[in-house]
Amino acid sequence: MTPLGLYLHIPFCEIKCGYCDFYSVTNGRGDARAEYVAALLEEIRAKGDGRPADTVFLGGGTPSLLDPAQVAVILNALRAAWVLAPDAEITLEANPETVTEEKLRGFREAGANRISFGVQSLDDAQLKALGRIHSADRARRAIEEARRAGFARINADLIFGLPGHTLDRWRRDLGEVLAWPVDHVSAYELSIEDDTAFGRRPPTLPGEEAVATMWEAAMDDAAAAGFAHYEVSNYARPGAECRHNLKYWLDTDWVGLGASAWGLAAGVRYGNPRSLAKYYAGRMTGFPPEKTDELPRDGQMAETLVLNLRLRAGCETAGFEARYGPGSLNRFAPVLAPHEEAGRVERHAGRLALTRAGLMVANSIWGDVYSAG
Ligand SMILES: C[S@@+](CC[C@H](N)C(=O)[O-])C[C@H]1O[C@@H](n2cnc3c(N)ncnc32)[C@H](O)[C@@H]1O
Ligand code: SF4
Repeated sequence: MTPLGLYLHIPFCEIKCGYCDFYSVTNGRGDARAEYVAALLEEIRAKGDGRPADTVFLGGGTPSLLDPAQVAVILNALRAAWVLAPDAEITLEANPETVTEEKLRGFREAGANRISFGVQSLDDAQLKALGRIHSADRARRAIEEARRAGFARINADLIFGLPGHTLDRWRRDLGEVLAWPVDHVSAYELSIEDDTAFGRRPPTLPGEEAVATMWEAAMDDAAAAGFAHYEVSNYARPGAECRHNLKYWLDTDWVGLGASAWGLAAGVRYGNPRSLAKYYAGRMTGFPPEKTDELPRDGQMAETLVLNLRLRAGCETAGFEARYGPGSLNRFAPVLAPHEEAGRVERHAGRLALTRAGLMVANSIWGDVYSAG
């Protein structure tokens, strides 16, 4: 069986960025964080079942608001509750403003071996408009500090399609980041989410065509800099793909711990409450999930196919049919055929994958796959 991934949600931020709907609170002073870590340790002990795991992802919110000693205690608890591979990938998400070289050294010593910085943009006016608490220079320095602190694996998150964004500005920022000592870049298209500042007061965004050009430029510039485009929004130097996130797209099991965290167990998705009070209330009853989403088999197949097609390597057809039965992919043939004919989907070496043209209309292809599921 594929080893598990362990996702832990740390729901604290200094302030809320205008675009972001990840669950986090902004009044998390030190004792609130200590209380949360105590509850997380209880949930780890309650849910640990000794199965093998080979990735850990501390995501948020802003996990870098934790002290290195708290990260060490959490990782030790995980090691006691699951069998963590000696070479496990252990990622910590960080906001550049919340770290120092000393703190980063502490995270490294606590066991984190990969760090993911929210950089978003290198334009100070844009960063301000997004509600970010750091400058471009602070992000540049944080990357250098992480290297000096011993992180060999570093990711930078960027967003394109921002209000007022131009192709030139996007390429300038992306080009600089691709030349940093990072081995992974996530380039997300801005999405406007309900219940965020941008959702309540939508900013004017560049048009669809301009955004498509930014996306194409990202693929070209990343390739020229030696980064492989391995998932819709993710680029990695050879061998530096995020092994934890690959579990989502390969649709294999992971455990979700902490408020608002989602997990997947044998085809059933489950979600913890998106509220600290409700999460703490679960302490009395072994932290039951608030939601479970048990898809019928056809729905599961559609979900696996869409997740696999997010990977540029696509869906390995033999693996899919080993999982869902011989001929199981045939049910999607009628909806995929027009996309294949139009050059948006291709079959190659036992795999079914989107082409670049397919990526540009990925949402409509996902819709077609779900409609057949
Ligand atoms: C949990 S945050 C990363 C760590 C840290 N909290 C920070 O922001 O520095 C995950 C990433 O998701 C991306 N993101 C969040 N909301 C987004 C949105 N509405 N559109 C596009 N990207 C988004 C951002 O790039 C962000 O860095
Ligand atoms: S982008 Fe990161 S720092 Fe900003 S609100 Fe979301 S989780 Fe918090």
